[in-house]
Amino acid sequence: MRTVLLLAVLGCAVSALVQVPLQKVEPIRNRMIREGTWAEYRKKKDIRTLMISKDASVPQQVNDYEDEAYIGNITIGTPEQQFTVILDTGSANLWIPDITCGTKPGNCNQGACKGALCQFECPDQACCGAGPNYTDSCLQQNKFDASKSSTYVKNGRNFIIEYGTGSAKGFLGQDTVRFGGIGQAQLVVPNTVFGQATSLAAFFEGQPLDGILGLAFQTIAVDQVTPPFINAINQNLVDQPLFTVFLEHEGDANNVPGGVYTYGGIDTTNCGPLIAYQPLSSATYYQFKMSAVKAGSYSSNKGWQVISDTGTSLLGAPQAVATAIGSALGGTWNADYGVYIIPCAAQIGSIDLTIGSNVYSIQPKNSIVPLGDGSSNCILTIFPFNNFGFGPSWILGDPFIRQYCNIYDVGNQQVGFAPSLQK
Ligand SMILES: *[C@@H]1O[C@H](CO)[C@@H](O)[C@H](O)[C@H]1NC(C)=O
Ligand SMILES: *[C@@H]1O[C@H](CO)[C@@H](O)[C@H](O)[C@H]1NC(C)=O
Repeated sequence: MRTVLLLAVLGCAVSALVQVPLQKVEPIRNRMIREGTWAEYRKKKDIRTLMISKDASVPQQVNDYEDEAYIGNITIGTPEQQFTVILDTGSANLWIPDITCGTKPGNCNQGACKGALCQFECPDQACCGAGPNYTDSCLQQNKFDASKSSTYVKNGRNFIIEYGTGSAKGFLGQDTVRFGGIGQAQLVVPNTVFGQATSLAAFFEGQPLDGILGLAFQTIAVDQVTPPFINAINQNLVDQPLFTVFLEHEGDANNVPGGVYTYGGIDTTNCGPLIAYQPLSSATYYQFKMSAVKAGSYSSNKGWQVISDTGTSLLGAPQAVATAIGSALGGTWNADYGVYIIPCAAQIGSIDLTIGSNVYSIQPKNSIVPLGDGSSNCILTIFPFNNFGFGPSWILGDPFIRQYCNIYDVGNQQVGFAPSLQK
């Protein structure tokens, strides 16, 4: 409605409000649980995470994306090449696979380089890709071919991004990036710098997913690249310097509509009236202060730095808090899976978060998600998040954002919350 009105009033307006749909897919975690490979994968990952966390020279991402359920389309280049990405407010770089991704090194035939454990055990990470038998990186991904784009500009710098599950590395390029798929409403952002990955660790294996589009601030971007949405703001391409995220409930159905990102304005279709804005305490992530939490018989008003993060599928809390809430709500810790298990039909109370002068209640519909193993067990979406002593201590991920639309107000450095209008 708003878009139509704006266009009618402004005629050939340059700035815009653009709504882009998301799709819900099965998280890789659910598939691996079903296939029985998740527990071992997690163990190896923990070891790798610990190794990386000791190396201060390598900035590590908070998100690993293996339990992500929401994806959207973008295009790059002229003519447009389309990619499916996670739209992630918990990171700040855009990268997609390059046409050369999957050029296999010659030494991938040893046993350690085959199968799901490749990225932990194989000496050459470039062996660990998405293809059959994991010996051909990026096989199932769409790849960007710069030679086919008339608007492409070479950059020359390299990039590497480390995840707990592996790395993405390659070089930087510059081109027109569009939020939204071919034929959809699009926010068109010329001269955007992005990563062209020449090797990908196996965590994208089997996922209908090509890359990541980070929506956080430039200060946390690898190589200090200007993130695409910030670039859109800098070029005055959006109506207002903010975007709204609406996420639908996670259910058993996959490959169904999953929500909407509204670039340049507030989503008045899917979100109710604004409750409040909370100022950012740090414009790196979307980080702010949360003063209290209550769940069942547990409550604490210790106060924490938290981030709003679309790229995390659960609620991350400090170990002691996660443990207390997990047991207060009747969850059972499953060490193999690294999640609290709870019957899908459990009647539990809300998780109440105090931010500013308001209490935001996450209802069971959003705090309990399918485990994916076909049983009547579900995941209670709180997990112990280890920030290794610095940065935010909570991650308010998708369960919070499904309950409340989040308005990421880049221009005024604040995050707004509005009730999600879904049933
Ligand atoms: C992304 O594009 C693919 C291929 O055109 C399409 O099938 C899918 O529905 C699109 N996803 C979204 C969320 O628009
Ligand atoms: C992958 O491994 C299986 C079993 O070893 C084999 O049958 C199949 O041909 C391999 N696929 C490729 C593409 O090499």
